Amino acid sequence: MLFMVVWYIGEGKQCKTFSLPSPLNSHHNGKYVSTESTPSESADTGFSPEEWARMLKALDWPTPDQPITDIAMTTCPACSTFSILGQKEKYRVGDELYVHIVAKDHNNTAKRYGGDFFLTKLYSSELKASVVGEVLDHRNGSYSARFLLPWEGEAQVAVRLVHSSEVVQILKKCLNSNSMRRFYYGYFEAPGPNGKRIKETVTCNVKWGQADNSSTGTCIYRDPRTGDEWQCKKPKKLSCDAWVYHRGGGYRNPLTTFEKKLFNGALTNKGIKGDNRILNVLPSNVRIGATEKCKPGMPTPVPAGFYLEDVWTSRVCNIHHFKSADMEKCLKNKLIYMMGDSTTRQWFEFFETIIPSLKRVNIHTDKKLGPLMAIHMKNNIVLNWRAHGLPLSFAKMAVADLHYISNEIDGMAGGRDTIIVFDIFAHVVFHPLTFYAHRVSRIRQSVIALLKRAPETKVIIKSGNTRETKDVIANDWYYMQQNIIMKEAFRDLPVIYMDIFQMTSCHYAKEDVHPAPVIVANAIDIFLSFVCPV
Ligand SMILES: *[C@@H]1O[C@H](CO)[C@@H](O)[C@H](O)[C@H]1NC(C)=O
Ligand SMILES: *[C@@H]1O[C@H](CO)[C@@H](O)[C@H](O)[C@H]1NC(C)=O
Ligand SMILES: *[C@@H]1O[C@H](CO)[C@@H](O)[C@H](O)[C@H]1NC(C)=O
Repeated sequence: MLFMVVWYIGEGKQCKTFSLPSPLNSHHNGKYVSTESTPSESADTGFSPEEWARMLKALDWPTPDQPITDIAMTTCPACSTFSILGQKEKYRVGDELYVHIVAKDHNNTAKRYGGDFFLTKLYSSELKASVVGEVLDHRNGSYSARFLLPWEGEAQVAVRLVHSSEVVQILKKCLNSNSMRRFYYGYFEAPGPNGKRIKETVTCNVKWGQADNSSTGTCIYRDPRTGDEWQCKKPKKLSCDAWVYHRGGGYRNPLTTFEKKLFNGALTNKGIKGDNRILNVLPSNVRIGATEKCKPGMPTPVPAGFYLEDVWTSRVCNIHHFKSADMEKCLKNKLIYMMGDSTTRQWFEFFETIIPSLKRVNIHTDKKLGPLMAIHMKNNIVLNWRAHGLPLSFAKMAVADLHYISNEIDGMAGGRDTIIVFDIFAHVVFHPLTFYAHRVSRIRQSVIALLKRAPETKVIIKSGNTRETKDVIANDWYYMQQNIIMKEAFRDLPVIYMDIFQMTSCHYAKEDVHPAPVIVANAIDIFLSFVCPV
């Protein structure tokens, strides 16, 4: 008998401003942070008030200065324009190009306030070349975009309005509210009186800032080490300890009828008109690609690199392009742990495909859900992948296989031949940004401890990428905000931050939450250039 209780945990239908727990450290907010896990200084888990203030500043985004009552008040992609400033006769590689963007509403009136979410690029379809532009919001309806001209030959500017500032205002409210945009299912199982197993299914969710209902029909699962809490509706017949399987549930759209109108597909992710003439960039002796060996702690500029003939040249450090045999050599004697979502699984699958002697071992798990392992016997390469734990929207899988990244890292010895790669974005985006920040702060704590006991361990962070959906459930603006937190949190640590967002937002491939193979291949070259610097 299967009970399906229609009950949604974590109420709050619409995105209302809500006072959420802050991810500050335990001295400031003992309630949400476990202090019983590890003694000494490492019990201090969250961000310091100064760090959090710095992050909030980096996350700051202007919003409309008036209530939005009419769709005509929103930024109109077909009315907004861009122009190239100070057109020159000749451009040379290494020059900068400035573009002026004017945002207008549907009445064709120039906007007075900022906050529009533009993504810009310089590109050439012919050369399979592209690079992102850096957008500066003047907060008065005008924007500047700065481009580097990194390749010789033709180049064109493209500006797209991903979301109007009116839509970003709604996104901002939703990302900071407790309206969970996704829920999950918990499967409970235990032996019944006649030897038959009793099974029940209930809804579950993150517990972050809601009332504690453990005595009134909620099962609460608190991870003693991370302090993370998960809640499921209490099953009717079974007890809370009978929670055996987990899977992703449905979405909940928190928008009001009026807000839904603003998310109109015709107004979302649209190119705007402007000076899209083809520039001819002449050669120069300016070298764009970085020549320094890749090592941890290197800052990521904008642009971080560019594509030419679909090959990424980095401005961070020298990227080598690895053939299959080079990869085998590079990874010899390496123990690699990948943790995250299906986008790190893409990396696992990439290696499995490109290195024929790297064989997947059947460890009796599902090939999509993991955990996964591949081994190269001759070169002694061990490659592991596992999902990052709750919240996770995969198919039904064992609760026992859901491990938090920070707990996994705490269980690793690390060392010269250990490489850790992790990402966390697409499955955590349905929950408040402070929840994300708390998660990142725990991972940071574990990384700091790991680098203390084994300083030669390589820690690589893969950022979130742009994707096909641009709605209130999941979109690039949310991912960008998450990336800011991740990057800021690890800013001063000897780790490697890979800005994949730049690599997907300027590439011609159709945006997809799973980046195109050519993008993955370029990302792998960057990864390997950090593992085996040249
Ligand atoms: C928690 O309990 C309170 C008081 O009984 C109730 O009003 C609220 O709806 C409950 N919340 C959930 C998520 O069940
Ligand atoms: C658009 O223009 C019309 C006519 O001038 C005016 O009545 C209306 O208020 C304007 N709407 C907005 C959103 O500015
Ligand atoms: C907006 O601000 C920028 C930078 O301060 C300035 O150059 C520009 O003239 C302003 N535009 C308008 C319309 O006020």
